[in-house]
Amino acid sequence: MESCIKNTGNNVGVEGKGHVLVTGGAGYIGTTLVPMLLSAGYEVTVFDKFLWGIKPLLFISSHPKLHIVKGDICQPEELKPVMKGKIGIIHLAAIVGYPACDKNPHKAMETNVNGTRNITQLMNSDQKLIYASTGSCYGAVDGMCTENTPISPISLYGSSKAGGEKVVLDAGGVALRLATVFGIAPRLRLDLLVNDLTHKALKNKSFDLYEGHFRRTFLHVKDAARAFLFALENYKVMKGEAYNVGDEKMNYTKAQVAQIIQSKVPTCKISTNTTGTDKDKRDYEVSYEKIRNLGFQSTISVEEGVIDILKILPMIQEEELKNCKNV
Ligand SMILES: NC(=O)c1ccc[n+]([C@@H]2O[C@H](COP(=O)([O-])OP(=O)(O)OC[C@H]3O[C@@H](n4cnc5c(N)ncnc54)[C@H](O)[C@@H]3O)[C@@H](O)[C@H]2O)c1
Repeated sequence: MESCIKNTGNNVGVEGKGHVLVTGGAGYIGTTLVPMLLSAGYEVTVFDKFLWGIKPLLFISSHPKLHIVKGDICQPEELKPVMKGKIGIIHLAAIVGYPACDKNPHKAMETNVNGTRNITQLMNSDQKLIYASTGSCYGAVDGMCTENTPISPISLYGSSKAGGEKVVLDAGGVALRLATVFGIAPRLRLDLLVNDLTHKALKNKSFDLYEGHFRRTFLHVKDAARAFLFALENYKVMKGEAYNVGDEKMNYTKAQVAQIIQSKVPTCKISTNTTGTDKDKRDYEVSYEKIRNLGFQSTISVEEGVIDILKILPMIQEEELKNCKNV
């Protein structure tokens, strides 16, 4: 039933749009998305294992339309009650990144594939399902990847996320194949390429650049979050398909990213005389035409993201850093 949010600060006058479940809502993308959904007039339940704690959600926790539930997507009996009565499920919960997946392969498959299957088995046909897929599904590809390019993941992370994506698409949901995300968020991640190299540039005044020719593709965390809102509101036309989410302007080689960072931290030395190799072998370029044709475009550049990160890095205390990496 439609409801109207009253007296909720900056949400005064925003029409209620229904109740959405966000799995993994306490993570990097989730803590950016949840306030956006609330501002747009949705009631939100975050369902999360809180691997990185509750602190990143505290700033919004007193919002009257936000509910917070601790639970595990691998436990259907914990999922079942929170899925009831929701108009949509935005499924972010996962073991994220190749190092975290390689550290515990069983848990990665259990969470990223079976946990996703639990959601599709419990949902009803009226509920919208939007899944955080990844460009990591593509692996190393010559030429431009479109949504029709056969996926060939080269890491356990990529294959587990591709497994989850198949389950979602078979159930008629939407899969957003996000580029590598960057920028600041309430739950900060400093293990993602742009954020990681910016951190090293400032802290160590240098970083090693392995395999600088590898092509990667990037997306600001606020644009990633906007894409989920976009899919929720354009679900009818997007249903049952995968969409790349990013911007061709941010298809960069790793060396180009390093140069952008060096231009903002001129004292930083980039060492390319290294014999090291990048364990993350992804090398791909992506077309974002399909979602752009529906009206979605990203808005924030890598340069802007780097400037933001540089603004806050000096204030981060050493003990906070352990929660900024997924391993
Ligand atoms: N960050 C990126 O660059 C990027 C790129 C492409 C796709 N994605 C996808 O976006 C989603 C969110 O990524 P993120 O960067 O916010 O990661 P994150 O690690 O910050 O967030 C993941 C959240 O999921 C929760 N979680 C993990 N296992 C759970 C379980 N079994 N039950 C309930 N909650 C659980 C964690 O506690 C955490 O809060 C993931 O599905 C990821 O694969 C991220």
